Amino acid sequence: MKKKYNIAVIPGDGTGPEVVAESIKALDAVSRKCGVSLQFKEFSLGGTQYLKSGMLLPEDILEELKTMDAIFLGAIGHPDVKPGILEREILLKLRFELDLYINLRPVILFPGVKTPLKDKRPDDIDFVIVRENTEGVYAGGGGFFKKGSPHEVAIQESINTRKGVERCVRYAFEYCEKRNKDRHLTLCAKTNVLIYESDLWNRVFEEVHLDYPDIKTDYQHVDALCMWMIKNPEQFDVIVTNNMFGDIITDIGAIIQGGLGIAAGGNINPEGVAMFEPIGGSAPKYTGQNKINPIAAISAAQMMLDHLEEKQAAGLLLKAIKRVLKNDLESLEAGKMGPTTSEAGDLVVSYI
Ligand code: IPM
Ligand code: MN
Repeated sequence: MKKKYNIAVIPGDGTGPEVVAESIKALDAVSRKCGVSLQFKEFSLGGTQYLKSGMLLPEDILEELKTMDAIFLGAIGHPDVKPGILEREILLKLRFELDLYINLRPVILFPGVKTPLKDKRPDDIDFVIVRENTEGVYAGGGGFFKKGSPHEVAIQESINTRKGVERCVRYAFEYCEKRNKDRHLTLCAKTNVLIYESDLWNRVFEEVHLDYPDIKTDYQHVDALCMWMIKNPEQFDVIVTNNMFGDIITDIGAIIQGGLGIAAGGNINPEGVAMFEPIGGSAPKYTGQNKINPIAAISAAQMMLDHLEEKQAAGLLLKAIKRVLKNDLESLEAGKMGPTTSEAGDLVVSYI
């Protein structure tokens, strides 16, 4: 906790700038109240910028981002840019270059929020997924052989380093201990089929467990875990998993906690910078309509304060978010919220 922070802001594309504006409003209010100083510096990155200038993520911006205390991202994605370019050249590049090796995704159902799971209540859906964020199939290993021919071969390799697995697993144990809820960590993998990669994860998990003897652990295959997240989410406290499985199960997490109007995440280098984002994407069809739900972005801002160890500010903002969700929003969906984007932001500020 140092009271003065340089925050990079990447509003990005589509509705990104709208939800970022509301988040900054909330951050300004809560930081004023708690005596924290946040200096924002905006960076124009994303599909809109790419179409305008051809720029994706240049070296000098990357270097500057490394010097920031945190990065706050709205959304990157543009319907006129071919899928894969912005993902690989901006989002994934940020993860790799800044070594944001943890993807942290709380899955918490707040009172007042509807879940598609019949009979589940806020007490039942309250866990956190720790996803490895820089390795696995995302590392991009593999290639084509005889591309385009009838004999074509496509190979997509999953890269798992002991160091990469261990630092992620250790973070998850550490997080589970700090969270101090059920003190229960689940490893999600596929040891019955991925006999190399999941074997490494399993061995590392058991080794690191020796350093955290009072954390209970269990193991679940990813397919079964998908079922249990829906049938019995109350059994989970913290789940740790690889990049690809994490990508999939965090989307299940997002929908059971109420969907994209609320889900937020952090891309974290525990020894360096971290980037926080609403996970819903740029929602281009709602751009400029003041209809999108800013709560996911404001929750990402809340996670950022928590990560910066500004516990008082983070606590206050969390309370305000919960109050809006309980009292003021008819639904989390864009256009069906009740209040507009800016009114929802104003409500958060008024509760701060
Ligand atoms: C996510 C997203 C990204 C991923 C995409 C946009 C590259 O789905 O953050 O979960 O696959 O990790
Ligand atoms: Mn995803």
